[in-house]
Amino acid sequence: MGDHWHRRMLEGKAGLMAALTTVCISIGGLVEIIPMFTVGAGHTEATPEPYTPLQVAGRDIYQREGCLACHSQMVRPFRDETLRYGEWSHASEYSWDRPFLLGSRRIGPDLHRVGGKYPDAWHYEHMKDPRSTSPGSIMPAYAWLLDWKVDPADVSASLSALRMVGTPYTDDQVNNTAAVLEKEAKPIVDSLKAANITVAWDDEIVALTAYLQRLGTDRPGKMAKAE
Ligand code: HEC
Repeated sequence: MGDHWHRRMLEGKAGLMAALTTVCISIGGLVEIIPMFTVGAGHTEATPEPYTPLQVAGRDIYQREGCLACHSQMVRPFRDETLRYGEWSHASEYSWDRPFLLGSRRIGPDLHRVGGKYPDAWHYEHMKDPRSTSPGSIMPAYAWLLDWKVDPADVSASLSALRMVGTPYTDDQVNNTAAVLEKEAKPIVDSLKAANITVAWDDEIVALTAYLQRLGTDRPGKMAKAE
């Protein structure tokens, strides 16, 4: 009774409706999928270096503390995002991300380009008390990261698990993890010392800082960051 033609001729015919819906969804899918293959043909992005052992330790802490509940790690290719965060995220940058930490909520800013944005000492102060570096911040303090220790045995276990799924860690990195971590931590320990902050190489804050400072530094497109 007074049905619109659309209802009678399309929505009323389940088979036809299903077929047309499939066609529409396929067009949407193809538009998204085909460029991924054609891009691969002429333009290959170099695979970045795997995360170093200290960065893996920091990444484990990032996961344990649930940072991704408030921070995404994906800069979308839109003007407002690139102006705020820098170059958009490229697929190759996630080559070694197991598991992915893309996140879907931005209670805090995206962190995919945070590497190199602040000095190491900033991260130390920010984790100790976010309000001290960012007045009015609602980020919780993570002061225990200044006391808790990285256990090299845990990091070694993470490295061998990642190696099992294809990340090329060496026997030295997996077997002498403590020595490898201590050596890698030195530049961060030194840079904090220069800022009058004393930390030990195995303080968790050092590993987390190593991870945060790595984020987004691969930047395959090398676009100048618009500030
Ligand atoms: C409850 C939400 C919340 C959680 C959980 C959280 N953050 Fe934040 N974070 C924020 C907010 C809000 C800001 C912006 C204000 C500030 O700088 O503190 C921020 C800012 C930051 C910044 C500075 C980003 C920039 O570009 O200025 C870093 C780095 C950061 N957070 C790291 C972390 C890490 C690492 C963790 C986990 C240990 C974490 N956050 C957990 C909310 C959160």
